[in-house]
Amino acid sequence: MDKFFINGGIPLRGEVEISGAKNAAVAIVTATILAEGPCILENVPEISDISICLRMLFDMGASIKPLKKNTIEIDTRGIKEPNVPYELARQMRASSYFLGTLLGKFNKANVPMPGGCDLGDRPIDQHLKAFRCLGASDEIDHGVVRLSADNLFGSQIYFDFITVGGTINAMFAAVKAQGLTIIENAAKEPHIVDLANFLNSMGADIMGAGTDVIKIRGVSSLKGATYTIIPDQIEAGTYMIAAAATKGDILVKNVIPKHLESITAKLRIIGATVVENDDSVRVFVENQLVKANLKTMPHPGFPTDMQPQMSTLLTLADGTSIVTDDIFDNRFRYVAELRRMGADISVDGKVAVIEGVGELTGAPVKATDLRAGAALVIAGLAANGVTEIDDIYHIERGYECIEEKLKQLGADIKRKSIPGTAVRQAL
Ligand code: EPU
Repeated sequence: MDKFFINGGIPLRGEVEISGAKNAAVAIVTATILAEGPCILENVPEISDISICLRMLFDMGASIKPLKKNTIEIDTRGIKEPNVPYELARQMRASSYFLGTLLGKFNKANVPMPGGCDLGDRPIDQHLKAFRCLGASDEIDHGVVRLSADNLFGSQIYFDFITVGGTINAMFAAVKAQGLTIIENAAKEPHIVDLANFLNSMGADIMGAGTDVIKIRGVSSLKGATYTIIPDQIEAGTYMIAAAATKGDILVKNVIPKHLESITAKLRIIGATVVENDDSVRVFVENQLVKANLKTMPHPGFPTDMQPQMSTLLTLADGTSIVTDDIFDNRFRYVAELRRMGADISVDGKVAVIEGVGELTGAPVKATDLRAGAALVIAGLAANGVTEIDDIYHIERGYECIEEKLKQLGADIKRKSIPGTAVRQAL
């Protein structure tokens, strides 16, 4: 297994360029299944979640051509069967997106049931409810979700609670359903809007993405399109917090500052200075950081994907902070690792109480999931001494070239590679 060794305590300074958004990219790459021609995708992040997604498309019959760094051409016309291979599907949660895209394309889908994951149980009941509303039947057969419909018909879908994946899957099937679909209580994340823009550029008719009511008029076919994926708000937020945690000064470039507002607002309360420009934000710290309470919410609230990083920053602040994260069952697993670095955090269910300790010390720790790994990187950058982070493959699921980007900001970070562990596959 590869590890990072970080010699902390160095204020990060300089500029960092943010990559394409993972959660937009996994949806958009999968959406190419619906196109009846080649798609060219730009700003595709080179991360392992995308490699797996591309590998799944390739194994199913698609042709994938890297055109230049972060730009690929995908032609899915070679996919003739609505079946997803188990070995790859089980590696990523977003494999559930194949349900909606294959149903939209073939009126059928056979996709291995996504299992639980590092964040806890992740049911798909709302996804199935959306497909049923559109006229599909479903069964679970030997661990495979089988969907089928004679025809898909537009309908009203009301989600019981906000679900990003459910909204995306409903959009995939509805773009090809006959008539009008109205999705209510829809997720509003920036990647929902990005996906809608991509599908519209393929010829779909989607209105209202980014609000909680999305209206989709089905079309009979979608064409290939060229599209540039939005910058990753979570990667950007992670570097913003790294600047504050190390008392550095970073210009985070290629961002949409509007997507970062909940992170910017919280950083300002904690005592960091955030200067917003057209497509960059500068973060620096002049004073001692102070406590803040935090509750994660669907967009435009504070994202659960930023909670571990922000909680790490709060361990360095004066005072007691209370953090509530009830979106997933298991989002505080990193806390045990942070305690090894001197953090004072107690967790009761979905609530963490953080007593600021002012300083962390380097220790051997383990990334338990993607954002937990990002939090440990931030802790290591801020800590006194050397932090050794194990299981960094979690981090590489979602952060392109993190080691190189941090080095460019002055961090002392090294990777120890053990031959034979596949970390970053070629796009
Ligand atoms: N849920 C259900 N039933 C469903 C769908 C969701 O009970 O049918 C529950 C989930 O178990 C969870 C909550 O509803 O408790 C919200 O889940 P949601 O569907 O919104 O999340 P997701 O689509 O599985 C995406 C991101 C996550 C991000 C969440 C929340 C992708 C590929 N993943 O997951 O990203 O945390 O939305 O914003 O877009 C990450 O990038 O590290 C990550 C985990």
